[in-house]
Amino acid sequence: MSAAVHAEPEGLDVALIRRDFPALAQTVNDKPLVYLDSGASAHKPQAVIDAVGRFYSRDYSNVHRGVHVLSQRATEAFEHARTTLARFVNAPDERGVIFTRGTTEGINLVAQSWGRANLGPGDEVVISEMEHHSGIVPWQLACEATGASLVVMRMDDRGALPDAELVAKIGPRAKIVSVTHIANALGTINPIARIVALAHAQGALVLVDGAQAAPHLPIDVQALGCDFYAFSGHKMYGPTGIGVLWGRYELLAAMPPWHGGGDMIKRVSFEGTTYAEPPARFEAGTPHIAGAVGMGAAAEYLMGLGLERVAAWDRALLDYGHAALAQIPGLRLTGTAPDKASILAFTIDGVHPHDLGTLLDMDGVAVRVGHHCAQPVMERFGVSATTRASLGVYNTREDIDRLIAAIRKALSLLR
Ligand code: ALA
Repeated sequence: MSAAVHAEPEGLDVALIRRDFPALAQTVNDKPLVYLDSGASAHKPQAVIDAVGRFYSRDYSNVHRGVHVLSQRATEAFEHARTTLARFVNAPDERGVIFTRGTTEGINLVAQSWGRANLGPGDEVVISEMEHHSGIVPWQLACEATGASLVVMRMDDRGALPDAELVAKIGPRAKIVSVTHIANALGTINPIARIVALAHAQGALVLVDGAQAAPHLPIDVQALGCDFYAFSGHKMYGPTGIGVLWGRYELLAAMPPWHGGGDMIKRVSFEGTTYAEPPARFEAGTPHIAGAVGMGAAAEYLMGLGLERVAAWDRALLDYGHAALAQIPGLRLTGTAPDKASILAFTIDGVHPHDLGTLLDMDGVAVRVGHHCAQPVMERFGVSATTRASLGVYNTREDIDRLIAAIRKALSLLR
């Protein structure tokens, strides 16, 4: 774990943090790597790599099934990760922490289990225009299956949700509001507590997609007041293929299972089956045990750095990036909401993002180009794709300078 020696005004020693991430110390196309694609997936600190390695080398076995020592150790490690992740989001009850494959699976779980049991014709599912496809398609499937309608909260030209739009769209027919905490294509931070207040006043639940927020903001599900919060391991410096759906326990306890299999039952017979209490009810089959252990280690790593300081560093870098990008002629930012984190997305007149991304890569600068699994956002801003630099806790002002220099060089070739 990094000792923070307060080298930056925001309180993080980023040079020391960088030493925790072995993948950053490499050259790509003969240039030192500048990794600006943490929004797609973040690199892993040695603490996470070691936790997974230790688990596989020493403690590995299946969980909840064996009386032997290794099975008990594995079960302890898996359940310890659950406790850590409950602390990470300040959950009141660790039984509300369900391990999933990631944010996408968490949203699908609620849409399929809660949605099929609770939605019907005349009901409304309210989402926002800035959702990732994983915040849209699961609800379209649930609406098709139940006859409920999808209602979309539109954003303004900055990529923010106006309060009047929240008030207008979260109406008396709303049964659930499903909204992203930080929009992956824009960086907008949504006013979750306000959305929760409006939704609860109408008797509707709130699910928050926290995929982009978990690595960048302190998350407190009790302060937010939401009913479900889904997030992924791999974006918060943990392994891929693992995530968490946190849900209020009494809601989870009333929800039917959505996957059947081992570990989610009380008793099985051919006449009928009874189900385990949550979280086991929603964790059919052998889980990604090492993934959970690694995600727990990632949460410990972030909590060790201090999420307030992580958020402050992100904001400082974002401001630095905005100012630097403003110097590039013909560059237009996509996403200028006042409350924003971690994402610098833009288009440049006359330049295709894929050409730009390829030239940046030749300079060792990794960014994502495309629609970022948010085609309605592209449509709203009248573009087919953007170039997106997304920040991680290990990025520096020098990384932004390298991005700007690489963009200028690419423009001299493309224009
Ligand atoms: N959802 C991920 C992104 O925004 C993959 O890039």
